Amino acid sequence: MPDATELTEEVLRAYAGTPDPRLRELVTALIRHLHAFAAETGLTHEEWLAGLDFLTAVGHTCDDQRQEFVLLSDVLGLSAQVDHVNAAAGATEPTVLGPFYRPGAPRREAGAHIGRPGDGAATLIRGRVTGTSAEPIAGASLDVWQCAANGLYDTQDPEQPAFNLRGIFSTGADGGYEFRTVRPVSYPIPVDGPVGALLRAAGRHNWRASHVHAIVSAPGYQAVTTHIFDAANEYLRSDAVFGVRDSLVQEFRPASPGDPADVSFVVDADFVLAPAMPRT
Ligand SMILES: [Fe+2]
Repeated sequence: MPDATELTEEVLRAYAGTPDPRLRELVTALIRHLHAFAAETGLTHEEWLAGLDFLTAVGHTCDDQRQEFVLLSDVLGLSAQVDHVNAAAGATEPTVLGPFYRPGAPRREAGAHIGRPGDGAATLIRGRVTGTSAEPIAGASLDVWQCAANGLYDTQDPEQPAFNLRGIFSTGADGGYEFRTVRPVSYPIPVDGPVGALLRAAGRHNWRASHVHAIVSAPGYQAVTTHIFDAANEYLRSDAVFGVRDSLVQEFRPASPGDPADVSFVVDADFVLAPAMPRT
């Protein structure tokens, strides 16, 4: 029987002929890190099996509405690390997609409210989308979503209609956009599944810093998946999924007489997109 190092080399050789070079790089790096993990920790059979049982339970917790694997990636900071690795220079910083994104939100007119009056304190969010050379981007798309004042997304709350607090907006000729929503609140990430068990075992809380999600995209530019965080929130320094970036924190200022009369708060949030990567 080969020793541990020889075994790792033997396994790596077995995958060295993977035709796709990127897949070869990913699989062999994964093997090296998994083997090193087992060696470093002295992983027992019981622990190895418990790990497999845990991942199986994560899979069984997933359905059409719930993505426990995304949640696991989030609480381990892997999602945030992937965001760091892929951040484009000079562009708005990305942060976690999270488990509550739903494609297919309705397109709405500029300024429209994405929710209902009872969903929370009316808030106007507006700004411009530009490129890294400050050029305005007309026709950029902002796919936004968030929870209601009860801390629940539409997918978690039978009282909310489908696609409540979700919408897609386009920028005008000057790159400007605006929409109405409600001031987001902190919400606990779900802890009734295996990810919750992990957080309890680690003694971690499960609260997210309050935020509005946005995916901003435009032809010829790299899309960015990001958040607008509320500067007054208490969880900015201990976000359960490590998603906060200082550059994404915005003031929700109380509306003044010069602002639209139907909103209580106003947020100015600009987005910057990097040019699309050239095709290789
Ligand atoms: Fe969220």
